[in-house]
Amino acid sequence: MRKKIVAGNWKMHKNAEETEDLLNDLIDKLPNDVEAQIIVAPTFVNLASAVDHLEFTNIAVAAQNMHQAEAGAFTGEISANMLKSIGVNTVIIGHSERRAYFNETDALLANKVSTALKHDMVVIFCFGEELKDRQDNQHFNVVENQLRDGLFHIENKDWEQIVLAYEPVWAIGTGETASPEQAQEMHEFIRETVRKRYGNAIAEDVSILYGGSVKPENAGEIFSKPDVDGGLIGGAALKAEDFAKIVEAI
Ligand code: G3P
Repeated sequence: MRKKIVAGNWKMHKNAEETEDLLNDLIDKLPNDVEAQIIVAPTFVNLASAVDHLEFTNIAVAAQNMHQAEAGAFTGEISANMLKSIGVNTVIIGHSERRAYFNETDALLANKVSTALKHDMVVIFCFGEELKDRQDNQHFNVVENQLRDGLFHIENKDWEQIVLAYEPVWAIGTGETASPEQAQEMHEFIRETVRKRYGNAIAEDVSILYGGSVKPENAGEIFSKPDVDGGLIGGAALKAEDFAKIVEAI
């Protein structure tokens, strides 16, 4: 069943005290009668406290990344098993900032997806084109390749643990949001790409989130599009009032 989801990717923001303050603010301001699934993704150091803090709420906690190995000499990395051990069952994989700044290739991300699925985690799989790709009218090819090479190795049964997040890189953190029509056009393409490879049922059931400068003032129109099932929110997720307004818009 396709779910409405609003997830906040906090990126490298909020120390322990600031995390507690924002979580208290969110508990106070977020509506508790929405159908949508609400997710927050604090930094690694604050995940365990966030899970405890949100235990009796309708807000789930996700990690922003994880390593593909089960364990080993990978200084500074975090494994799926470690995330599960603190009650984190959802992980963002393939964010454009990981792809760009940490050279995460489609092949590496495919390994991360496999490891997360093996640990029964929900994967929010991120992908999206650069501005030049769109200017060269290559954005559909780029997105199709990212899905094929980073995700389409999974089996039909795995799709119940997959959430797709289309994030045009040129819209991330820039204030330059994709228009609702651009978002719908790409989301429809993504759903058709899944349909061709995995069939109707999986294509219809998968949630496809839009990310890239979603704000309270534009969320409603973007979320109203038939193939947009919610958002992956960056900057606006760091302000409880804005994130609550975006959730209310779903
Ligand atoms: O993962 C969500 C993020 O990349 C979007 O950031 O600040 O454009 O909402 P922002």
